[in-house]
Amino acid sequence: MASEALQQLILDTLNEHGTIKDTRSLILPNQLELATSHDAQITILGALNSLLSRDMIRYESHEVISHVLSPEGAQIAKEGSHEARVWAALPPKGQGSPMTPAQLKTKVGEATAKVGQGNAFKQKWIVKEGDGLVKAVDSIKDVTQLDLQEIDTTGDLKSGEKVLADLRKRKLIVQRKGQWFTVHKGVNFSTSIAKPETDLTADMLASGTWKTSTFKKYNFEAEGIPPAGGALHPLLKVREEIRNIFLEMGFAEMPTSSFVESAFWCFDALFVPQQHPARDLQDTFYISDPVKSLPPEPLYYKRVSTVHEYGGYGSTGYRAPWSHDESSKLLLRTHTTASSTHMLYKLAARCRGEEVEGDEKEFTHGAKATTAHGESTADDGFQPAKLFSIDRVFRNETMDATHLAEFHQVEGVVADRGLTLADLIGFMRVFFKKMGIEKVRFKPAYNPYTEPSLEIFAFHPMLNKWVEVGNSGMFRPEMLEPMGFPKDVRVHGWGLSLERPTMIRYGINNIRTLLGHKVSIEGIENSAAVMF
Ligand code: PHE
Repeated sequence: MASEALQQLILDTLNEHGTIKDTRSLILPNQLELATSHDAQITILGALNSLLSRDMIRYESHEVISHVLSPEGAQIAKEGSHEARVWAALPPKGQGSPMTPAQLKTKVGEATAKVGQGNAFKQKWIVKEGDGLVKAVDSIKDVTQLDLQEIDTTGDLKSGEKVLADLRKRKLIVQRKGQWFTVHKGVNFSTSIAKPETDLTADMLASGTWKTSTFKKYNFEAEGIPPAGGALHPLLKVREEIRNIFLEMGFAEMPTSSFVESAFWCFDALFVPQQHPARDLQDTFYISDPVKSLPPEPLYYKRVSTVHEYGGYGSTGYRAPWSHDESSKLLLRTHTTASSTHMLYKLAARCRGEEVEGDEKEFTHGAKATTAHGESTADDGFQPAKLFSIDRVFRNETMDATHLAEFHQVEGVVADRGLTLADLIGFMRVFFKKMGIEKVRFKPAYNPYTEPSLEIFAFHPMLNKWVEVGNSGMFRPEMLEPMGFPKDVRVHGWGLSLERPTMIRYGINNIRTLLGHKVSIEGIENSAAVMF
């Protein structure tokens, strides 16, 4: 590197002479002339600072005023002054015919003829002869040209400030502030430039070379990288808002951490027939390792398989053979209702006569859950519950602008004696109203695990149409009674995606703008806080 060669030159010169009194006395590597120019001193300054940072040298700087040629000055330095050019163009006195001013103009150019004639007369270099002009002397000394040549090489002029001032006035030179330096050896002076280490490595520590290495100094003045503040993803903002609505309504949050469920908990316990198309590979992601889940509690398992195969609790069942293999498959949960089912089974523990301790908080968010129907009087161990969850589910979907293979479900579940469909509708009206959705409609639908089932539609003012926002229903006795719930206990639930209201809220129409590798970090950072 050129700068390394220069650093080496500085160190070698210091080694030889002890100090460098004036850096203009140096001849830079690959140069022929002394480093008197402004540019050369700038280059030297860079090398000096680099050596200074390692304490290999010290230096003092000195200021000088130097001069450089203007473009016109440079031309004169090369071709001579205007007056000299006029003199050179004219014939000697008494030889040949004098030159007319018009002829002179064509020979040397208008500008030179004009300025040059006046000055040449003043210098007595030319005289008139008849109508023309001739040389008055045999030879001239073009001082302007010589002065400019001197300035060009040294930046200064021996004949002094008066002449310099005159040249400045004639705009042939300009003044420039320059620097030069006196250099001394520093405390770490050496003639070899070891590249300073920037990092302390494990190798250095192990070999002990850290003791002798030179380290690059920390620059405490350097500005740090501006820290990027964290930002909540729009989905998280909306999730927080929906969570607050549930908490406000006295719901307790269900644990939803197991993304992997068995087909038993995701489907069978919900009375989803084992032949149901939703269970196909095209719709559900199955786990290949391990292939099978641990078996559920045997009595409950037996009751579930029996209701599927032969019926019971007033149901005829599916009358189709039961497959143990199908039930023990592992999969990525396709709905959060799998988690709700776990919780309902747990809620029914007392009704099954199992000893349970300290579970109130799990089901009631601290306070006793009261629904429209209040507390139970029957002594069958049942306690009402209001539960919710917001978490991820997985479906083997063809991905498009509104579908991804994984998304979030919001789910509410209410369990109490004698609940009716009107209670479910009432709950959902309150819930959606709190989300700012006032106009809701319900449409009969089908779910294997609820009867009746309702699809929920909301009026979208921006789209000016009704859009589907959720699904709901009253869980079937075939699902609840095998768990051990008393016959008068009704459980209803509703579910919606978290993505749909988030997209509506932020005016996003392609889900890939919200999730996945196409998401813009800037968009996330600038997404507004929500308030439905
Ligand atoms: N599990 C249903 C779905 O995935 C939603 C739902 C929840 C329906 C609870 C009824 C009761 O769409």
